[in-house]
Amino acid sequence: MRIFAPLSLAILLLASHAASSQAPDKTPAAPQALAQTPPMGWNSWNFFSGKVTGKDIRDSADRIVSSGMKDAGYVYVNIDDTWEGERDANGVLHSNAKFPDMKALADYVHSKGLKIGIYSGPGPKTCAGYAGSLGHEEQDAQLYAQWGIDYLKYDLCSFIPEVMEKQAPNDRAAQMRLMIAAYDKMAKALKATGRPIVFSLCQYGWDAVWEWAPALGGNLWRTTGDIQPNWDRIYAILSQQAGLEKYSGPGHWNDPDMLEVGNGRLTLAENRAHFSMWAMLAAPLLAGNDLPNMKPEIKAILTNREVVAIDQDPLGKQAGRVYSDGEVEVWSRNLSGGARAIAVLNAGDNRYSTHPFRLDLAKLGLRGPLQAKDLWTGKPVTLTHNMPLEIASHDVLLVRIGAQK
Ligand code: GLA
Repeated sequence: MRIFAPLSLAILLLASHAASSQAPDKTPAAPQALAQTPPMGWNSWNFFSGKVTGKDIRDSADRIVSSGMKDAGYVYVNIDDTWEGERDANGVLHSNAKFPDMKALADYVHSKGLKIGIYSGPGPKTCAGYAGSLGHEEQDAQLYAQWGIDYLKYDLCSFIPEVMEKQAPNDRAAQMRLMIAAYDKMAKALKATGRPIVFSLCQYGWDAVWEWAPALGGNLWRTTGDIQPNWDRIYAILSQQAGLEKYSGPGHWNDPDMLEVGNGRLTLAENRAHFSMWAMLAAPLLAGNDLPNMKPEIKAILTNREVVAIDQDPLGKQAGRVYSDGEVEVWSRNLSGGARAIAVLNAGDNRYSTHPFRLDLAKLGLRGPLQAKDLWTGKPVTLTHNMPLEIASHDVLLVRIGAQK
């Protein structure tokens, strides 16, 4: 038997090499038990970036409950980068002084009926230069499980220069295989903990992540680089989602990045349009604003139940862009119970972009007149073929046809 051992090892190695050098598996993903609808919650990065503390996380959890956001469906309280401290002699990672007791923090968030998320990456360092999980994947996954973590965002960053470029210089295909293997490794490490932990891939959409992430157990994956709180960036990200709708569904979602609603200098119309379009995209709804100082009009946007219901529709069918006319875009998604959501977005810089815009129901496969509900005014509207619509700059008309189940 001894003689066969090296041979079988060689066969194994060859088999695994063959598997890893094949094109990514494009077969439909096995349904994931977690994230049957797009994850909803809040993440620290967009407002606090590197300044977040454990106290901010507690305050945000408090505010998610007292503002009514929890009742509207926001569940995850996610700590992004900069919580990490040093590893001890046994390789165990400790949180830094801003997060004195992770277990107690997780217990606190859980005591509010919420869930808690954390952040790491496959490289030696995270994007902000803190300790990453390279070489400690199993150990870190076990640590998260011990703390009671429910969600992991895993961010590529230093894995690019430190592993991909060093181990496979100038070989793009080999670099991508290393990247996929790194995500697979953490997916397995999370699974091995036995704790249900939502797995969020953050590698900016590289190598058509939507084609391979579901198969390795990814519940969501970023499709682009980082969002910023300005309309141009939000619109650029939105534009890149057209065509990705077929990859998204219950358990595995395209992630056009976290919400900027309430951040920067976005106008009310832009906040509303951003939120509407993310709901149309069945995007994870992770608010990223300053919750203790949230303005009432921002709360009203984030907690609009009927818009949230579009996002969370159990069919999980992401909207596609049906047509555009000048700077006006018409997006549509099918909802459970035969209902439909339609968003008409004026992406232009003034209201004249929609003059004279007419809604072409035939292009949507519909016939008027149709009774619908405007989800921002709450009023009924009758949709007729070629009806003229005038929509303010960077604003949206979001309607639902058919009752909410
Ligand atoms: C990357 C990610 C962001 C955020 C930062 C943290 O830029 O894309 O969402 O997590 O890292 O350093």
